[in-house]
Parts: sequence; structure tokens; C-alpha cells
Amino acid sequence: MKVIEDPKQLRNEIKKLKQQGANIGFVPTMGNLHQGHLTLVKEAQQHTSISVVSIFVNPMQFNNKNDLDNYPKTLAEDCAKLEQAGVDIVFTPTAEVIYPNGLAEQTFVEVPGISDSLEGELRPGHFRGVSTIVAKLFNLVQPDLACFGEKDFQQLTIIKKMVIDLAMPIEIIPVATVRETSGLAMSSRNNKLSSSEKEIAPKLSEVMNELASKVQSAPQECKQLIKDASHTLDDSGFKTDEIHVVDPLTLAPLNKDSKQAVVLMAAFLGETRLIDNVVVDLHP
Ligand code: PAF
Repeated sequence: MKVIEDPKQLRNEIKKLKQQGANIGFVPTMGNLHQGHLTLVKEAQQHTSISVVSIFVNPMQFNNKNDLDNYPKTLAEDCAKLEQAGVDIVFTPTAEVIYPNGLAEQTFVEVPGISDSLEGELRPGHFRGVSTIVAKLFNLVQPDLACFGEKDFQQLTIIKKMVIDLAMPIEIIPVATVRETSGLAMSSRNNKLSSSEKEIAPKLSEVMNELASKVQSAPQECKQLIKDASHTLDDSGFKTDEIHVVDPLTLAPLNKDSKQAVVLMAAFLGETRLIDNVVVDLHP
């Protein structure tokens, strides 16, 4: 496995591999890797001959400097996991090479509409930061295919639209959320939970699945069902941050033509904000 920090070296390496006929599968990450990331890697490897993983904690997508400074950095452990997983190239650029002129001067990519709702409303500029870095990494890595987790549902929806809108020749593969046996969605944030919080945490997916099946039978009751789910979570020890039930294609409220609904959950357990989502069919 090659660990490459310099974008020029990466470009040369990718050019050489492509000349040899390789096709490139890409998984962008911010490090602190867990089983969920390794599942994305496995998926990429199933479709392509060369797998590239980037590890870059992207300052442009953080609203809060404290969150950026405290983001866990575990490069040595991450590289060991990727080596074990059979990854070919790990790209670990610095913020200085990615944003040589600073963030204020940076050209950006913004996917309109769906970047401003839901999580985007709470974190202004976050998805602009995500689409910009992903576009930039796509330009550097030149992948044929890239894998994104369904866990970050809005991010996945935005990237799919960006690739279509900008005619990027890259196939986006959505990968199902990896869960603990308890149902808890895997996340780097789970490491921050105390042992008593860990016992409560699986309740999030339980309440989400109950809500999803109720929405399936009565989508017009959505508002009341969301209120009930929020109370159930709060009674279990969470502080509900947001629950939305929207159309997965547009991230807008359900309408009579919606074929599916996505239930998006965000709740605090102590200081840790956990998220999860599930898509269900409507009008079966
Ligand atoms: O999902 C993430 O870890 C990040 O948002 C991504 C896609 C690597 C962009 O920085």
C-alpha cells in the first residue's frame, strides 16, 4: 500500500495505473476509520482493480472551529486497517496543499436547494464544503467509481446530484449502513459514548424503525407520528434534535406522488449527536 501526501505524486501514480488499464475505486474519508468505512472499501474493491482511500479532515465543512480542532486524528491506526483491507493507495494531503489560498479565496461547488434544507439549515455552508472537497478529490483521484454510505443520506443525495449536474464520469455507489447487532448504526461518534449511553443508543434505530413502519401505513399523519417519536426518544434519555420524514429524491416534504419516504433522525445522547435514517416504500 502506498501512502501519498503530495497531489502531484498521486496524479502521476494514477496516470501510470490507468495507462496499465486499471480502473479506480475511491472512498473519501476524514479518517478515524471503523467497520462502516471498511465496508465502503470492500464495495469499491468488488468493482475495480485499484482502490484509493483519502484521509483528509476538511476544514471547509466544519462550522465550528472547536469541532475541527477536536476531530480525532488516528492516521497510523487508519493506515494499518487500510493495509489489512488490501487498499492500494491512501491519499493524505495537508490542508495547505488542498487550500493553498485559504478558504476565503476557494472556488466552491454548491448543489442548490437540497444543500440548504435539513442538516444544511443547522450547519450553513457545511454541504458546500462537502461538495467542494469531494469535487476536488474526484479531480485529483480521477476515479471510475466512488462509494458513499447511506448513513449520511443528505450527503449521498447531494453528491449524486453534483455528479449528474456537472457530468462527472464517475459512478456513485450507495452502501447500506453497517450496524452493531443491537441495531446501532456504526459511527466514529459511538466511541464518545459512556457505557450507560451505549446501552441507550440502540433505542434510536428502534424508534426510527417504528416511526418508519407507521409512516408507511399513514403517511398523512407524519407530523403527529414525528412528535410521538420525539417524545419516546426524550423519555428514553435522548434529547431529540431533529426528525424529518421527506421524499428521498428531493428531500422535500412527502406529496401524493412520493413513492418512498426517508426517515431522518438526529438526537443527542449526552454531548454526542447521533444520526440515522431508513427509507421505506409508500403505496406498496
Ligand atoms: O463523509 C465524510 O467523511 C466527509 O463528509 C467526506 C465525504 C469525506 C468529505 O470530506
